[in-house]
Amino acid sequence: MEHSLSSLLFLSLISACSILFASSPAAQASSHVASSTLQLQVLHVAKPAPHESVLTWEDRMLQTLSADHDRLQFLSNLAVKKSSAPIASGRQVTQNPTYVVKVNVGTPSQSLLMAMDTSNDAAWMPCNGCVGCGSGPLFDSLESTTYKNLGCQEAQCKQVPNSNCATGTCVFNFTYGSSSIASNLSSDTITLANDPIPGYTFGCIQGNVGNSLLAQGLIGLGRGPLSLLTQTQSLYQSTFSYCLPNFKSPNFTGSLRLGPSSQPRLAKFTPLLKNPRRSSLYYINLIGIKVGRKTVEIPAEALAFSASTGSGTIIDSGTVFTRLVEPAYNAVRDEFRKRVGSGFNVTALGGFDTCYTEAIVAPSITFMFTGMNLTLPAENLLIHSTAGSTTCLAMAAAPMNVNSVLNVIANMQQQNHRILFDVPNSRLGVAREFCT
Ligand SMILES: *[C@@H]1O[C@H](CO)[C@@H](O)[C@H](O)[C@H]1NC(C)=O
Ligand SMILES: *[C@@H]1O[C@H](CO)[C@@H](O)[C@H](O)[C@H]1NC(C)=O
Ligand SMILES: *[C@@H]1O[C@H](CO)[C@@H](O)[C@H](O)[C@H]1NC(C)=O
Ligand SMILES: *[C@@H]1O[C@H](CO)[C@@H](O)[C@H](O)[C@H]1NC(C)=O
Ligand SMILES: *[C@@H]1O[C@H](CO)[C@@H](O)[C@H](O)[C@H]1NC(C)=O
Repeated sequence: MEHSLSSLLFLSLISACSILFASSPAAQASSHVASSTLQLQVLHVAKPAPHESVLTWEDRMLQTLSADHDRLQFLSNLAVKKSSAPIASGRQVTQNPTYVVKVNVGTPSQSLLMAMDTSNDAAWMPCNGCVGCGSGPLFDSLESTTYKNLGCQEAQCKQVPNSNCATGTCVFNFTYGSSSIASNLSSDTITLANDPIPGYTFGCIQGNVGNSLLAQGLIGLGRGPLSLLTQTQSLYQSTFSYCLPNFKSPNFTGSLRLGPSSQPRLAKFTPLLKNPRRSSLYYINLIGIKVGRKTVEIPAEALAFSASTGSGTIIDSGTVFTRLVEPAYNAVRDEFRKRVGSGFNVTALGGFDTCYTEAIVAPSITFMFTGMNLTLPAENLLIHSTAGSTTCLAMAAAPMNVNSVLNVIANMQQQNHRILFDVPNSRLGVAREFCT
């Protein structure tokens, strides 16, 4: 146990270094030092106590282990207090199909329900002065004593798309879904859970054309330079987990846990893969799919990870329904229909092609990843129309566009599981948890 713990710490130290070299902001240097110093201390904690010699060997080992454990716990809590923020279904509270987390911004703080997105890096929110942001809550920068517009000389200004410096302030444009968004690059204190993060860099939205702007903004949990992971590296060590409640749940019963402490130990794990061309995304290696007990026939290229084409499988909190590339989806769907039985009529509803108007008994579906089989119960597989009479398989074929090579494990398939993103150890953990 001691051995595996120290090799784990060692690994996280190595990857903290690679994160530092992979991206440039000077701000990271100091946080990196803090985290590596702490971890080096952790490796040298087992000091013999004076009274130890009178104990038996077994007692001593037991005491050392438990003292070590307490010491490690103490040290890790110094760096990372238990930190957890409630999550709700956005469908219920902000009319977005995604999940939202409460974020306090500015001094004194203003509360926003920001969408959580594991496939985006940046954070952005509607700000005072925005044209086209609608009439909902926004962040009023004039009311915050800690708010700053960042200048063009700041390193972060080089990390945003289409930046423009005509006024001396770093402003930039980007698209999100069908929206074209104009934003200032800004910083202020943000607080998730209990830890204030001063000088957090985000986009303060000044203009929007289109319908995809998320009402109260977005917080990116991807792993690129401007993400929460990077900006809180010293505090949360690129480790977080969430439990997403059923999207019909009206209450904030889910949670976003930040930092390595109080993460599940009994999770199943699969390695995270990295694609340098899509560096924010969390790729995992899907190697097969079972419907009931049968492994369906899927051509290897439909699942294969390729850094050059971007193909493979990602896990994503912002997509609602799992999308599989067509040959994979067709194989799963055909077997699913077969298992439900030929006595039932299959109908279509919206984007779903496998729906039933009678009560069915659905087979389970198992996603087989390297080192982890994830069997999903009916709750994660079936969607019931609000009228109540139609039930659909809640997956679809990936749309035929540039992204058609990507399989996406979406949020409906993650509900009521704790999903752990352990970036330092390059692994994704999944454990069943009821948070609905
Ligand atoms: C955004 O920047 C412009 C200058 O480019 C400034 O006039 C405006 O007040 C800024 N908006 C906010 C919310 O600070
Ligand atoms: C950014 O958007 C603003 C307003 O929507 C527009 O006036 C400006 O030309 C755009 N700038 C770039 C570089 O696209
Ligand atoms: C959700 O919140 C409402 C209103 O606060 C409460 O009446 C209800 O019991 C809660 N439901 C659950 C499942 O906690
Ligand atoms: C399926 O649809 C056909 C044609 O509409 C109908 O005759 C048949 O009774 C339906 N079967 C079931 C099991 O509902
Ligand atoms: C996943 O299931 C397959 C097929 O049933 C099995 O061969 C494999 O060993 C399982 N993998 C794990 C990690 O349990």
